[in-house]
Amino acid sequence: MTREFELYASLLSGDAGRLAETVRELEDSKAVDGLHIDVMDGRFVPNLAFGPQAVAALRSVTNLPMEIHLMVEEPHHLLPIFAHAGAQRLIVHVEACAQLHRELATIEKLGLQRGVALNPATSISSIEWSVDEIDEVLLMGVDPGFGGQALIATTAAKVRATRAVLEAHGSRASIIVDGGVKRENAAMLARCGSNRLVVGSALFTGSSIAHNAQSFNDLPVSESC
Ligand code: DX5
Ligand code: ZN
Repeated sequence: MTREFELYASLLSGDAGRLAETVRELEDSKAVDGLHIDVMDGRFVPNLAFGPQAVAALRSVTNLPMEIHLMVEEPHHLLPIFAHAGAQRLIVHVEACAQLHRELATIEKLGLQRGVALNPATSISSIEWSVDEIDEVLLMGVDPGFGGQALIATTAAKVRATRAVLEAHGSRASIIVDGGVKRENAAMLARCGSNRLVVGSALFTGSSIAHNAQSFNDLPVSESC
């Protein structure tokens, strides 16, 4: 398999009644590098999603790395809870944190990778003074809260611009795109500079989960970005 990006599976659009089986299918497919767990508070986004019990339960059935995408206002009190539930990476939204440096320092003290997510309308300049403290920049390809939305067209240019900012600061942070990622745009997003793609609904529609995940292997390299 040659793939220029890591693929993380977002379970949001999966069958909530058989999460453990879904994760086993994903792991057995050998086409997924990790799990992306969406946490929502009904305030930062108009929806609710997974809590720490689900993360702990999934931790006990898989060895795949787990990243937690906290779509939550002021997530500070949740950071240790999700760390203890078994996450490898915690991703907070820059729009949801009054004190981003403090949140990133807390994640580091917990021994986890520090991720910062930006909504589509949020400028990269919002993290420019924090770049040295960030391991992963997650660019939303859709407004967060729901799976199954179409990629916002400016995402590719934002990936490129983010890569330029990181390089200008000598940062080796990874760039993740979450939301609207499909087989049709994955190679292009990778070409633009994204190291990791989060895929949700595209894994759970049509044929089997394993087949859907494997369909992201061996995509032709994109000519364009
Ligand atoms: C959206 C979530 C995503 C979502 C992606 O708010 O953060 O992780 O599951 O779903 P798709 O791939 O369907 O856009
Ligand atoms: Zn997400």
